[in-house]
This record gives sequence, structure tokens and C-alpha cells, in this order.
Amino acid sequence: MDYRRMGRAGLKLSAISIGAWVTFGAQIGERAAGEILQRAYDLGVNFFDNGDAYADGQAEIVMGKAVRSLRREALVISSKVFWLVRRVVEDEVAPLAADLGLGLVTWSPLRSGLLSGKYLSGIPQGARLSLKGYTWLRDLLTEENLRKVRELQAVAADLGVTLPQLAIGWLLRLPGVTSVITGATKVSQLEENVKALEVPRLLTPEVLERIEAILGNKPEEED
Ligand SMILES: NC(=O)c1ccc[n+]([C@@H]2O[C@H](COP(=O)([O-])OP(=O)(O)OC[C@H]3O[C@@H](n4cnc5c(N)ncnc54)[C@H](OP(=O)(O)O)[C@@H]3O)[C@@H](O)[C@H]2O)c1
Repeated sequence: MDYRRMGRAGLKLSAISIGAWVTFGAQIGERAAGEILQRAYDLGVNFFDNGDAYADGQAEIVMGKAVRSLRREALVISSKVFWLVRRVVEDEVAPLAADLGLGLVTWSPLRSGLLSGKYLSGIPQGARLSLKGYTWLRDLLTEENLRKVRELQAVAADLGVTLPQLAIGWLLRLPGVTSVITGATKVSQLEENVKALEVPRLLTPEVLERIEAILGNKPEEED
């Protein structure tokens, strides 16, 4: 695991962290959540994110029980204030945070699973977008988004990594990002995603330009 200082504060967070939104208390119960947290902890994850609104409070209860067996003083557990903004982060928020000595944590790196490629040929049973209460997320499945996902998958394949790894690594490359909060319903997803730590070194300027050409939303440079 890679540990990064939270801005100028003494706190060090694992560069890959895990959160509870949708998953804990809604898709998976105490036992599965406990297995994921224990495996994450064994892989060096020390930062767990939650929110009091997640699963109507159940996510906090499930996580609270699951971390009982872990060394409490080794963990950082967060809740939150409001939404993290889109591409303004790179140009505006990250430099400001660096000036102020703040660290950034970024959430939903796979856009609820869209950037795993699993929705390219429909909505798999049991996946987040199939869940009652989260059908609003299906708005993500536009032709344009799916085309971008397909093209990004080709970039990932050329780099010899998976699309989730590319998506998470693309965030990890940003200076000022202390931790990327991932989500998982399976230990195998967590294990795959943690390998994204190897991706930033693969992101040469040429690869980043290829990604920008696919995304088509590069923040404009100021004069
Ligand atoms: N500040 C906020 O308002 C805010 C908002 C959102 C999230 N967050 C935090 O960020 C955490 C992570 O967000 P998120 O869960 O939305 O992250 P995400 O990375 O966008 O989506 C995670 C979901 O994608 C699927 N997935 C993950 N890895 C995969 C892989 N390797 N292959 C295929 N599918 C994979 C799983 O869903 P399925 O198995 O169901 O497909 C998993 O639950 C949350 O738990 C929460 O703590 C905060």
C-alpha cells in the first residue's frame, strides 16, 4: 500500500480507501462487509468512508460492527459534507488545496460501476444499477458515455490493466490526491482495484492525451 499525507497535516491515509455508500447495509450485510473491511485492512487500507444517510443509517451500523475486530487506533473513519465537483478539481480545487495545505479525497472513482465496463451490454442482475432505489443512476447509460467506456477499455487493454484500474489510477496521478475512496461488493473487486496503485507510472503524456481525446471535457487552460 502507498500512504499519503493529508495535505500538511500529520495524518497519513492509504492511497486507496473504501467506502460504504450503496454497498454496506443495502447490497451486502454485516458478514460480507466484515470480510471486505478485513481484507482491505490486510491489504493496508486504513481509511474507511461512511455517511449518516447511507442505507438510512444501516451503513454506519454495519461498518461499526465490522471494525470492532480491527485495531481502532490504526483506522481513519470519515463522514462528509457535500458533493466533490467534477473537472474543476484539477484546475481549481487541487491548487487551492495545495496552497492551503489540504489533502483531497475523491469518491466514486468508477461512477457507480459505469467505469468497470459491466454495463456495456445491459444491466447485470444484482449490480448497483439494477437495485430498487438506484434506478436514477441508469441515466448514466447514455450512448455517449457507453462509447467513452468502450474506448477507455481499449486504452486500459493496451496498458495491460483493467478499466477499473485505469480509472482509479487516473485519479491517483493527480498531485494533492491523498486517497481515492473505492466501493466494492466483492473481495475480488477490492483486490483488482488496489492494483491501480501501479497505474500512474503508466500514464505518459501520450496516454493522457489519448484519454482526454476520448473524454472530450478537458478543463480549459487559463491565459
Ligand atoms: N461525498 C459523497 O457525497 C459521496 C458520494 C458517493 C460516494 N462517496 C463515498 O465513496 C465511496 C465509493 O463510492 P462508490 O461506491 O460510488 O464507488 P465506485 O467506484 O464509483 O463504484 C463502486 C461499485 O462499482 C462496482 N465495482 C467496483 N469495483 C469493480 C470492479 N473491479 N469490477 C466491476 N465492478 C466493480 C461495485 O458495484 P456492483 O458490484 O454493485 O456493480 C461497487 O460497489 C462510497 O462508499 C462513499 O463512502 C461519497
